[in-house]
Amino acid sequence: MSLLHFPAGFRWGTATSSFQIEGAAELRGDSIWDEFCRAPGAIADGSDGRVAVDHYHRYPQDVELMASLGIDTYRFSVSWPRVSDPDGSVNAAGLGFYDALVDALCAAGIRPWLTLYHWDLPAWLPGGWTNRATADAFADYALQVHDALGDRVRVWTTLNEPWCASFLSYAGGHHAPGHTDAAEAYASAHHLLLGHGLAVRALRAADPEATLGLTLNFTPAYPADPENPADLDAVRRIDGTAHRFFTDPVFRGAYPADVIADAGAAWPADLVRDGDLELIAAPIDVLGVNYYTSQLWRAGEPSPQPTPHPSATDGVVVDRPWLSRTDMGWEITPDAFRELLVGLHRDYTGPAGVRLAITENGAAIDDPDPASGPIDDQERIDYLREHLRAVHQAIEDGAAIDTYLVWSLIDNFEWAFGYTKRFGLVAVDGDLNRVPKASAGWYAELIRTGTLSLPDPS
Ligand code: FCB
Repeated sequence: MSLLHFPAGFRWGTATSSFQIEGAAELRGDSIWDEFCRAPGAIADGSDGRVAVDHYHRYPQDVELMASLGIDTYRFSVSWPRVSDPDGSVNAAGLGFYDALVDALCAAGIRPWLTLYHWDLPAWLPGGWTNRATADAFADYALQVHDALGDRVRVWTTLNEPWCASFLSYAGGHHAPGHTDAAEAYASAHHLLLGHGLAVRALRAADPEATLGLTLNFTPAYPADPENPADLDAVRRIDGTAHRFFTDPVFRGAYPADVIADAGAAWPADLVRDGDLELIAAPIDVLGVNYYTSQLWRAGEPSPQPTPHPSATDGVVVDRPWLSRTDMGWEITPDAFRELLVGLHRDYTGPAGVRLAITENGAAIDDPDPASGPIDDQERIDYLREHLRAVHQAIEDGAAIDTYLVWSLIDNFEWAFGYTKRFGLVAVDGDLNRVPKASAGWYAELIRTGTLSLPDPS
């Protein structure tokens, strides 16, 4: 057995999002995800977020549970259609829920980490993110939430995974609003980033001491044949829209020229206006990294089906049968995580003096029903351990990482997969009771000691 010690002051926590856990949909306005759930066939099990795991009513218990595990940081998101009314005014009762949640977290000694946008866009905003006006509305909403909670919430993430909220949602059709139009995807990606920039400007002016950032998702792309120029080019284009479309304007103040060239006629005229890139590149304090897997790609024939990679419809994912997979079918590749973190620090965050935080990492495992007894989710523990080993190595290699948050605290609504995929450290039974899994106890012990135990290789 060898022991890896994390730096003193390293922060441990868990993450969730509003639509996935809250329920109490009758107490808020519709989001695009409520509408998407009503579309026949959109959600694997035909489910929705109306009740979810009823966190809205059970939050005191969920906070207590986190306190019992020694959780230091809790990343949650605010539901925009809960705290805003269609005329743009504040919904006091909706905001009151987060006020009470934040009070409960602070009383339990848990640091609240607030994400302003985790995909539940108010359904009433015309055109959603394809409309530039949505970026202005987002900044107004950000200030409204900050006015109420800024005295206690000191860490603010503007957006969660804008790639998912744009390319996956407006080009791939997999997420709300389920469109398949490349031009809409580019427009929404830019407007999301603009909303981020406008919100950072507003929050910075209101609260210069706050910690501000955004969270991006990374699925590192590797060529199936590193000697084959066609595979290398497919990887360049995938990486372009999935990653560089977001990191380059935020850290370098420009969209990558190759990405715009690849977009061709799908790049909307007049999309980027004077001053937009300065706003988007406003300094941030922390980059949130969500990581689950990596992929191997080769160049093939252009796909006739819509894909979330509009400039790489010829890209084909190549299976690596020797790798284990999670219940999402995602290959388990912790080494790519280490490489990603070191590369981000070297190329983007390090030079800008920005810290990295792991804002999501975790595994869907096909756990048994909690009714059949304690859940021994050893595969989840193994996944977390291997990925934490990668984080530790990245820190040793110089990456400035100070936080790790498991996705997720609790089993929840996994978007288009409904309730069929389980990522939680805690299960939920048929009566919505919380049932901690073995991984919850394992994580509590890791937090208590700050030390990762690695079994000797067999
Ligand atoms: C991320 C999302 C999160 C969850 C995990 C599994 O893309 O941010 O809400 O669905 O994947």
